[in-house]
Formats: sequence, structure tokens, C-alpha cells
Amino acid sequence: MNSGPVRIGTPLSPSATRVMLLGAGELGKEVVIAFQRLGVEVVAVDRYPDAPGHQVAHRAHAIDMTDPVALRAVIEQEQPQYVIPEIEAIATAALLQVEQEGLATVIPTARATRLTMDREGIRRLAAEELGLPTSPYEFADTLDEVRAAVDRLGLPCVLKPVMSSSGKGQSTIRTPEDVEAAWDYARAGGRVTGTRVIVEGFVDFDYEITQLTVRAADLDGTVGTFFCAPVGHIQQAGDYVESWQPQPMSDAAAAAARDVAGRITEALGGRGIFGVELFVRGDEVLFSEVSPRPHDTGLVTLATQRLSEFELHARAILGLPVDVSLRSPGASAVIYGGVDAKAVAFEGVAEALSVPGTDIRLFGKPESFTTRRMGVVVAAAEDTDTARANAKAAAAKVRVISE
Ligand SMILES: Nc1ncnc2c1ncn2[C@@H]1O[C@H](COP(=O)(O)OP(=O)(O)OP(=O)(O)O)[C@@H](O)[C@H]1O
Ligand SMILES: [Mg+2]
Repeated sequence: MNSGPVRIGTPLSPSATRVMLLGAGELGKEVVIAFQRLGVEVVAVDRYPDAPGHQVAHRAHAIDMTDPVALRAVIEQEQPQYVIPEIEAIATAALLQVEQEGLATVIPTARATRLTMDREGIRRLAAEELGLPTSPYEFADTLDEVRAAVDRLGLPCVLKPVMSSSGKGQSTIRTPEDVEAAWDYARAGGRVTGTRVIVEGFVDFDYEITQLTVRAADLDGTVGTFFCAPVGHIQQAGDYVESWQPQPMSDAAAAAARDVAGRITEALGGRGIFGVELFVRGDEVLFSEVSPRPHDTGLVTLATQRLSEFELHARAILGLPVDVSLRSPGASAVIYGGVDAKAVAFEGVAEALSVPGTDIRLFGKPESFTTRRMGVVVAAAEDTDTARANAKAAAAKVRVISE
């Protein structure tokens, strides 16, 4: 990490403080805006042109970020001080090299991006090295190994490719007859075909949370850990549909959540925000996985915190102080495309925003798919139940139109 006093230059000049986002979707777009407000020069990279973050950055590139040569080339061309991954599917070996050669600081660290893109890397670190509680699990490379793992773990089980996100290739095995279909589905849905899967025992949790956790430096450069109020959420088909903050928790569960989140983020190191995904059953908290970057369920913080998760990320990266305080209870509700079409339009936005305490983000994605996230409503209210009802009511008023 850089040492010495924090210094922010003038964008588009030789003194510029320059950052590069690898991934410029809706989360990256908010990170770009947070940096722009702090006078930082921002380069946004995604796999397709006119991605949401491209539209608000100083410069934009469309490359295949899983190609180590292309990734290295764009970093050499732009020479950012900080490289900030926003997605998992990146040539992380190239990032390790960039970090080792001192070309740029990788956020939070190149090792963290490598470990967390692979369920095996992060699960073994959490469960086997740190001894954090998790679901029971086994890794498997063949259908026979999956059957054997299911026999040992018992039903139901969840099968996931080790390299996948957003629920891709993931399914629940409820009966022995489900095993083969789950295996085929995992092989088709993984980021790399024919690789390993994880078989996890199904956790019958009471609720699940994202424990947003920030690693940020004080004025001496000493890194501390800061915990946001827990974010509750509901997942459907591998994607989050609504979230709220704060999720009510027993004191014991809340303390366990911070303990688990503190230990895994400490082990990953670096500076920035992390979304630690946890399952809660009574006072017991199980580690599920962690994103070393803003988390989609944390979009709610745009309405609830003094500094959103995106502003916290920008501040932590630059070495600025953070404040994780909650301003108001709130909620978020996702707006899906509902159609497969390019250049859609949105109607009903005025009606949506007439619901008290609501705000909207339309991501500006050039193409809509039925299940693509195209926008989100965030709402603040006196309690999370009201906020959830208002966010959902407002999101339901937005119509996606394709001509
Ligand atoms: N072992 C399990 N027991 C019960 N539910 C599970 C289990 N594993 C996953 N789930 C459910 O599926 C959701 C998605 O799982 P997971 O986070 O592992 O997948 P993902 O593809 O990384 O998703 P995302 O990228 O959206 O976070 C979890 O949030 C949880 O609701
Ligand atoms: Mg997840």
C-alpha cells in the first residue's frame, strides 16, 4: 500500500490521481461517481461498450478482462495508481503480476481477488485455515464423486461450480434422482466448463445477511476494520430481489457476524469494502462467501447510510477516513428488464417516485434481458417494514418499454 500523506491531484493533468475499475456495471457506476466527486480521474473497463460505469468515467475501454494480455495492456496504457475489480471473472494471475511489479495497487489485494473468484480458495481459507463455521462441504470433479459426497453430507445439498457467480449453474439436490441433472447444470453454468464443483449441505437458516465491512486507514496509515449495520436480503434464482437495513439480530448473532467478517477480511487484507455473506440460525452465524468489493444487496446504503458502500469504498481506497453510521432504516427493490430488447424506455417513474421516501437508479444498460437488473428503487422510512413495502410498491410502478 502507498504510504505517506494522502494527496489527490487534478484529473486529466500530470498530477492526477487515477483509478481503473475492472467491471463497470451498476455497482461500478456508483463507485465511479464517488471517485468523481473526490476529484479523481477514473478509467472504466468492461466487456462491452457503453456499460453503466463507462457513461460517467473520464475514459472507457471495452476488452475481455479474462484475457491476461488484454488486461495487462490496458493497465500499462492507462497507468492507474489503483486497480479496482468490480467483478469476479478477471485474469487474476495478471493482477498478481501487476501487484508484484509495483505497477499499481490492486484493491484490496491481488491475492484476495484470486481467492474469492474460486469457491474452493475462499472456502478452504475460511473453514480450514481460519476455522470459521460454514455449511459442511466437499469438492468433486466427477459425477461419481458428487454421488459419494451427497451420501456423506445427506440431503438436501446445494451443488455449485467452483467458478461461478449470480447463482449460475447452482441447484439444490433434494432426492438422489436430482444428482445427475444438478451435475449437468453445474457443468453448463460454470465460468470454465468441466471444472470442479462444491457440494454443500443445505443450511436451513432463519435469515441471511450481508455484513458490509470496511478496511480503512487512520491518519497514521494503520488499517482498522469498520462494520456497517447488517443488510437483510431475499435471493431468488441466484439473484437478490430485495434488501433492507438494518436486519434485526440478537446481540449474540450480531457479535458473531462481526467476528466472522472481521476475521475473513483481515485474512484477505488490503483496504476497501467487503460484502461478507452470512447465514444466521438462532445465535449461530455461518460464513457463506465474501466479495472483496461493494455488494449488490448493499445498494440499499444509497438510502440508509451517511456514506454509501460506494463512497466508503472510494474513501478507504484513497486512504481517507470512513464513517459507517446509519442515517435511516431503508430498503431496496430491484427493477428487472422483463423483456429482451435493446434501448428500452422506462415509464411509470413519476408514479414510482411519488411513493414517500423513495429514490431510483436507472443503470442505463444498452440492452435489456428478461432477468437483467436494469434499475433499483431505494427507500428510507421510519422502519424497514415500511421501507420494504414502499420500495416494492415503487419498483412495481416502473414499466420497461421496448418499441
Ligand atoms: N448451503 C446452502 N444452504 C442454503 N442456501 C444456500 C446455500 N448456498 C447458497 N444458498 C442460497 O443461494 C444463494 C446464492 O448462493 P451463493 O452466494 O453461494 O451463490 P453465488 O452464485 O455466489 O451468488 P451471488 O454471486 O449472487 O452472491 C445464497 O445467498 C443463499 O440464499
Ligand atoms: Mg452469494
